[in-house]
Amino acid sequence: MATAKVLFSILASLLVLEQALALATFDTDTVCIWGEDNCQIHGDNLTLILNQWSGITKWHFHMHIFLSSLCTVIFLAMHFFSGAAVKGTKEFLFGYVSKRIKLVPDNSAAVVTTYYASSPWVSTENDTHDEIDFEFLGNVTGEPYTIHTNIFVNGIGNKEEQFKSWFDPTSDYHNYTIFWSPYVVVWSIDDIVLRVFKNNKDKGIPFPKTRPMTVYSSIWNADDWACQGGQVKTNWTHQPFIARYLNYEDSVCLWTGTNSIQDCSAVTPENWYMAPQFRQLAPSQIDNMNDVRSYYMIYDYCSDTKRFNGAMPQECYLSPY
Ligand SMILES: *[C@@H]1O[C@H](CO)[C@@H](O)[C@H](O)[C@H]1NC(C)=O
Ligand SMILES: *[C@@H]1O[C@H](CO)[C@@H](O)[C@H](O)[C@H]1NC(C)=O
Repeated sequence: MATAKVLFSILASLLVLEQALALATFDTDTVCIWGEDNCQIHGDNLTLILNQWSGITKWHFHMHIFLSSLCTVIFLAMHFFSGAAVKGTKEFLFGYVSKRIKLVPDNSAAVVTTYYASSPWVSTENDTHDEIDFEFLGNVTGEPYTIHTNIFVNGIGNKEEQFKSWFDPTSDYHNYTIFWSPYVVVWSIDDIVLRVFKNNKDKGIPFPKTRPMTVYSSIWNADDWACQGGQVKTNWTHQPFIARYLNYEDSVCLWTGTNSIQDCSAVTPENWYMAPQFRQLAPSQIDNMNDVRSYYMIYDYCSDTKRFNGAMPQECYLSPY
């Protein structure tokens, strides 16, 4: 598997696949689904705002996010603040999506900004959704953001990995990419891979392959949760909290019905992500990833033996790439 010739490179993919890269724009491919007044879409610019007193939180949206969180949820009374959320208009199975994001600057403690792909979330009782997450947990001025990643398959997550930001995500735009193929899911920032999740379905590990996803972005207030023992509070004197997004790009296999499960997994030139060079990371990418992981990783579910009572998820014993 680890033959040196293999070249998975998102950078190369961008060059090679320029035609395949549909220039999605926020304007044409995104709709606001929460906090109308707090979503601003201008061409390929998207601004999401969190402020106080402008609206009422919506339960279902918080419930969705809560699954993605490590924190225990304790809802307090109704809060009169509003964040915002947008949803892509395309449903797809596999491909590449990227957005450039500039996160909330200064004191952003308890403010969470997200960018994730998810299949429809049908019900709490019988949740079978798939999801690939980036979440950015704000911090007090001068302290690093936490970059939180997770993956859900058939409604089950519990695969969190967190990183300290190794750059200032608030002073400039950075490119956040999700790559998803039947072989692998790859999270990267500015072409540096920080995480891979390989398809080990043959070893009994679930992998998302049949449910179409849509891309979401949102900003919301997390201080009504018992994160970090509940001491982290949003400092509303700093409102409005503003996250900016630019350059929504994608190259995806559009979902046209259950036939897409086969069509999007077929090895054809249109399904560029099926090509051998996208099945595995290049050695230089692995080196960069290992550097980032050794210096900036702050949580790895595979190291959390206490949480799993020593019965670690099976993929923790397998090579991640
Ligand atoms: C989008 O944002 C960029 C960078 O902040 C800015 O230069 C540009 O004028 C904005 N475009 C629109 C249509 O708002
Ligand atoms: C905020 O910064 C502190 C100190 O560096 C760190 O321990 C903590 O995990 C950070 N919190 C978040 C939510 O990123």
